[in-house]
Amino acid sequence: MSHVRKAVIPAAGLGTRFLPATKAIPKEMLPIVDRPAIQYVIEEAVSAGIEDILVITAPSKKPLEDHFDRNFELEALLESRGKTAGLDQVKAIASMAKMHFTRQGQPLGLGHAIGMARCYVGDEPFAVLLPDDILTDNGELLSRMISTQASTGSVVVAAGHYPLEDVISYGVIDPISIADDVIDVASIVEKPALEDATSNYGLAPGRYVFPPSIFDAIDATTPGVGGEIQITDAIAAMIASTGVRAVLNHNNRYDAGQKLDWLRATVEIALGHDELGPGFRELLTDIVAKHGIGAAGTPSTEIA
Ligand code: UTP
Repeated sequence: MSHVRKAVIPAAGLGTRFLPATKAIPKEMLPIVDRPAIQYVIEEAVSAGIEDILVITAPSKKPLEDHFDRNFELEALLESRGKTAGLDQVKAIASMAKMHFTRQGQPLGLGHAIGMARCYVGDEPFAVLLPDDILTDNGELLSRMISTQASTGSVVVAAGHYPLEDVISYGVIDPISIADDVIDVASIVEKPALEDATSNYGLAPGRYVFPPSIFDAIDATTPGVGGEIQITDAIAAMIASTGVRAVLNHNNRYDAGQKLDWLRATVEIALGHDELGPGFRELLTDIVAKHGIGAAGTPSTEIA
């Protein structure tokens, strides 16, 4: 069994990149194919051995709590109509993990949101998963990160190799050494200017495994980029104590908080869906031909 049982999911952000959809609906509840984005993240955590999850929310995020709670009225209705497949699905959501919710109060930054979990976490290592980042790797990356944390005692972050113009939208990692897809981190800087980026290694997807000492580092962190308490600054402060390791991700990753990448997630996940995949592939082939995309066909609009 994994030595990391608990995970924290910070979901108190405003989701301004996805307006107007997110005016009244939390971005974590926007569906990707047949389930809300956050359900993918919970399923990933559970696949990596997580049993107990705290979601950091905001006043507008009540649907998140409802989604992971029982809905007796719906269950009774599905049962009375003999819709057993639907009934099993809605019941399963409520029993995936032990779920807890707390509110951040004010969106003072990701570091501040994670800091809210101190009492919940207690004195054990824990995982943090940002619900914008959708992975479809059945917990493979998070499992490697948990193993790395167990063997090193370090702060463990996830990293990818990105073009220079993209990497500066993340924390940028300067490596001491790289072995077996694990970077020993020399320094880390949140969203540097292009000329200050020291490598192509960026702090994304948003997955972390922390020792409990991260909470003291968060408490000591003053507002940084954007006037927010940045988790990257607290992580950078841990380099001198526990050390920081970055585990490289090679799998697909979607930023579901961003419109275009949400569309990519929807299309690719639909193509791989057991039930919908074959029908969707046919539909997409027709659409591609109709709109003359790539070499597949001529746009029907050009005929006139
Ligand atoms: P983002 O930078 O994506 O911010 O936060 P956001 O507000 O959610 O979205 P945009 O940029 O306005 O579209 C990264 C993660 O940190 C959480 C967010 O919910 C998201 O999961 N977060 C951020 C908090 O929980 N609290 C904060 O104060 C800030």
